[in-house]
Amino acid sequence: MEEARIDEVVGEFVTLKKRGSSLIGNCPFHNEKTPSFNVSVSRGIYKCFGCGKAGNSVTFLMESQQMTYVEALKYLAKKYNIEIVEEYRSEEQKKEEDEKQSLTESILIANAYGQRFFTDYLLHNEKGAVGLSYFKERGFSTQTIEKFQLGFAPESGTEFTETALKAGYQLDILKKAGLTSPKEGSKYDFFRNRVMFPVHNLVGKVIAFGGRIMVKDEKSPKYVNTGESEVYVKSKILYGIYQAKGDIRKQDECLLVEGYTDVISLVQAGIDNVVASSGTALTTDQIRLIKRFTHNVTILYDGDAAGIKAALRGTDMVLEEGLNVRIVILPDQEDPDSYVRRVGATAFTEFIKENKKDLILFKTDLYATEAKSDPVKKADMIRDIVQSISRIPDMIQRSVYIQQCAHSMQMSEQILVAEVNKMRNTRAKEKTKEDVAPHVEIEDLAASAQVHQEQLLASTHNPEPIERDIVRALIEYGTWEVPVDGGEPETATQFIFDTLEGILFESKYKYAYDYIRSEFDAGRIHPETFYTQHSDVEISRLAIDLVTASAQDQLSPGWWEKYEVIVPDKKALYIQDIISSTMRMKQMKNLEMLYQIEERMRTAESAEQMDQLIQHYKLLTEQKKEFAKATGIVVYKRK
Ligand code: CTP
Ligand code: MN
Repeated sequence: MEEARIDEVVGEFVTLKKRGSSLIGNCPFHNEKTPSFNVSVSRGIYKCFGCGKAGNSVTFLMESQQMTYVEALKYLAKKYNIEIVEEYRSEEQKKEEDEKQSLTESILIANAYGQRFFTDYLLHNEKGAVGLSYFKERGFSTQTIEKFQLGFAPESGTEFTETALKAGYQLDILKKAGLTSPKEGSKYDFFRNRVMFPVHNLVGKVIAFGGRIMVKDEKSPKYVNTGESEVYVKSKILYGIYQAKGDIRKQDECLLVEGYTDVISLVQAGIDNVVASSGTALTTDQIRLIKRFTHNVTILYDGDAAGIKAALRGTDMVLEEGLNVRIVILPDQEDPDSYVRRVGATAFTEFIKENKKDLILFKTDLYATEAKSDPVKKADMIRDIVQSISRIPDMIQRSVYIQQCAHSMQMSEQILVAEVNKMRNTRAKEKTKEDVAPHVEIEDLAASAQVHQEQLLASTHNPEPIERDIVRALIEYGTWEVPVDGGEPETATQFIFDTLEGILFESKYKYAYDYIRSEFDAGRIHPETFYTQHSDVEISRLAIDLVTASAQDQLSPGWWEKYEVIVPDKKALYIQDIISSTMRMKQMKNLEMLYQIEERMRTAESAEQMDQLIQHYKLLTEQKKEFAKATGIVVYKRK
């Protein structure tokens, strides 16, 4: 509860004296003669450096006055004469948001109204019947229409705007939302005589519309779409993500199609994990959106061979984001919409399963047949494939692809490795500090593979300290910025989740980590106080412990007031802190895998299997060295 001032609340029960920038008193939770109970007004929390108790206004009342949570809230509400509110926003957030908020909110409200109007018109207005029969003809059920909130925009060209104005919506906002034509003085509807597809954001708010013409007309475009606005940035959203996100996560796969109608037909058929790029090339933002829910993307292409190679062009970017990309080419003349309606969901799913090909292998096969007898062509194609492989961030995956590619193109693996490394090197020099793995002698590794299991085991089976560091970083600096090579700075939260993508927490910090992650997935990143003042006591308690412990970590006795002034210093160090803790986490996971490989090496049954394990081991060891370098931990060479 942000209105509650910790010093006023605590001050009713404990005599506080000012010391430096904080307040100090005798701890109410244990007996003491010299005060060690510190209160920080700016952070809204207390911490006793004698007995370790820490908390916020609410937990103070609960613990010192034996109030229940609700009683504490009511007590504070009465004291400050306020209504009990759920949401918390910090001061900076408030200022910033308030400016944007009203416009954004008005646009969303207008869009919501627009959607209701169009859907209502489609389903209940006789002038909307043409739209309804259009959808029915395409096989869309009423349930589907409702799920996607499809609609119809009146033919007259003014009916929507007039009705909206009568209902009290402002012309200015209707124009900013893109619902009314933006021309000076005009009151014309932007969408006329079209069936309407609202575009939803992750949480289900309508941020834009696409309106499709019902009969082919050379003079009018097939779709009219809302222009970019306060709330709609086309390159950051995927059509259908709101409806699909749960299923994408559940099935750990995202199907990617081109059009609105492809998404809707597939969902109607019971294939729910599908989104559309809405006819444009995929962007990095869209890929990252998918990455929040799965690492597996299957792209469905229409069955006209001409477009295939062009379509493949954008896909290296997806690889670069570390996603597994698979490709399905539909039968000739079919798109997902027509094909699923023709053969039904079972056959469709079966077709995808049978025909989906890993992107790199897809390219390899495509080229292998094409370039069989033309060495010049073959060289070009190999370069293209190697280019794709070199984009993959995961070293092990790269090496697997190189093997496969070498096999099917009948090339030497060494040459491909060298080529991939060369490309990575060039790019690394260009923009990032990405490292190409140092060369390691296999014999060395095979010999050392038999040893140090215990050592590894010990270091890998205690995830708690590192998980704690990461959760603390998320809470303390989540909203702060981290510079990105050659790009806009991103929040520490984004950086951490991107870096640790796919890693599961195991210790008691899992709860907080997963919670912060789910907030992030819903588009929310919060400042520290959001967590220290959180209504879920498990969260606030942990947050307070972490942030006060970090003050203690850094400073010897007398800390708190010094802590208040040390903040700028800490700010200078936070980037290092984040990078080092995420690296250590990855390092730990790398060690776990090494350990598993070592286990398997001891029980390998064939020379072939052993060879594979050694390969894998070699890669992991290279990674291990990179991590060690990054975290400043020395790896000793065994002799
Ligand atoms: N698109 C667009 N403007 C156009 C054509 C297409 O915005 N003039 C976008 C739409 O998002 C559309 C997608 O590109 O959904 C794919 O185009 P297309 O396959 O032509 O449209 P479908 O939605 O599949 O429509 P239909 O099946 O009725 O042809
Ligand atoms: Mn189509």
